[in-house]
Amino acid sequence: MPRERTLYTCSECGHTEVRWMGRCPQCGAWNSFNEEKPGGLSGSGRSTRSLGAAEDTVEPIALNGVEIDRLPRYHVQPAELDRVLGGGIVPGSIFLLGGAPGVGKSTLLTMLTRDFAAAGQRAVYLSAEESASQVRRRAQRLGEIGDRFLIVDEPCLERVLPGLYRDPPAFLVVDSIQAVYSRELDGIAGSVSQIRFCGGLLADFARATSCAVALVGHVTKDGDLAGPRVLEHMVDAVLYFEPDPRGVVRIIRAFKNRFGATGELAVMEMTQKGLQPVRDVSAMFLAGRLVNEPGSAVTAVQSGSRPFLVEVQALLTPSHYGTPARVVSGVDGRRIALLAAILDRKSRMSTSGRDIFVKVAGGLKVSDPAADLALACAMASSLRNRPLLAETIFLGEVGLTGELRPAENLTPRLKEAAAHGFRKAVVARLPGQSLPRIEGLQVIGVRTLAAAISAAFGLRELPKDAEEEGA
Ligand code: TYD
Ligand code: MG
Repeated sequence: MPRERTLYTCSECGHTEVRWMGRCPQCGAWNSFNEEKPGGLSGSGRSTRSLGAAEDTVEPIALNGVEIDRLPRYHVQPAELDRVLGGGIVPGSIFLLGGAPGVGKSTLLTMLTRDFAAAGQRAVYLSAEESASQVRRRAQRLGEIGDRFLIVDEPCLERVLPGLYRDPPAFLVVDSIQAVYSRELDGIAGSVSQIRFCGGLLADFARATSCAVALVGHVTKDGDLAGPRVLEHMVDAVLYFEPDPRGVVRIIRAFKNRFGATGELAVMEMTQKGLQPVRDVSAMFLAGRLVNEPGSAVTAVQSGSRPFLVEVQALLTPSHYGTPARVVSGVDGRRIALLAAILDRKSRMSTSGRDIFVKVAGGLKVSDPAADLALACAMASSLRNRPLLAETIFLGEVGLTGELRPAENLTPRLKEAAAHGFRKAVVARLPGQSLPRIEGLQVIGVRTLAAAISAAFGLRELPKDAEEEGA
């Protein structure tokens, strides 16, 4: 057997080293290394030759002959959250809900536990951070509790899991995975090895008993899960509350889902009675917008199954320092650098020597490529200090040569804009592509960024390399 060596694991990212280090070479965190004893997890000393003679083996079988589990999913309220979960909670699955402190993780899972109980299912809330009475106080704010909502406030899994194995509930919440621990290990609750080990125990429990398990996970300042990334691979789905909860709006997104699509997002509001869905997401993201202001453009982003409108804002001002500042929130900074470079090359404007500030209003993160055109037009508008065409939305991906690519799902996006009082749309259009006809909306198809900018300022004459086509 190889000699057991002590390893040092970064508590932020799970990176391991053979010696202690002040700073993690992988994630850059300071003073994050903890000592770990390998404890027989690696190096079993078995050789491939002895594997050939092993007795306790499992034979592969024909996939055709495998029975498919047809356990019905548990549907949850509101419908948006159900969609984020991939169309309900699958029995025997385990999901992780991450989010900053105070964002509403416990509130959301208390609501789910209550829904299970109200549907006649036993549901257990394992609270390792708060006392049973604190959990009751929160649950009471949300309404009727019912007899099937069970609580256990104990962080040691060995004291809780045997009882749950004897009589498994339909749903188990573990609040939080950083606060529970196993006696099998030396490390304190929240250490990488504890999180990994307890995550494994709970995943085994879910599979063995068909109980659906929800884990609460805390995130660090940067929005990463506090603890090892390995937990994300261990679970079936990872849901996150979008960081930066300034107001009452909460956005929940799925980053991974073995049982459904990702990209869906639920927009909720924190109220006196818990989290309530926001019915008109577009109206909420556009609230407070100043119309006819330079630097503002509206686009429709597609998130999962539905589109909604968001405002993007840009401010480009002369820089007073050698290196201009670029401060970007809600979109990838590299995308803004790219759009600025394309603007420089393909329009008669120059962003050089300018500080560039770009943000998505409402704290949303936008990765939809169709938002490119709105971002570029907002930057152009701020550069010229002229507002864009009123009541207009912009849709299209901008390519490196200044060409535009059409947005996917154009019709629903345009309908959403028309429903919110928009009268014009400047959209990317391929040659020969016909544009949808939407009542009350003039759709202007353009092929290049330069043409789009001309249209965005309501100009008639167009640069030579552009062509404009009315719908
Ligand atoms: P909580 O769910 O405890 O957050 P987390 O578990 O993510 O740390 O609740 C967060 C905040 O929400 C807390 O400041 C109280 C507030 N809140 C409401 O506004 N309305 C409610 O109905 C509840 C239960 C909480
Ligand atoms: Mg909590």
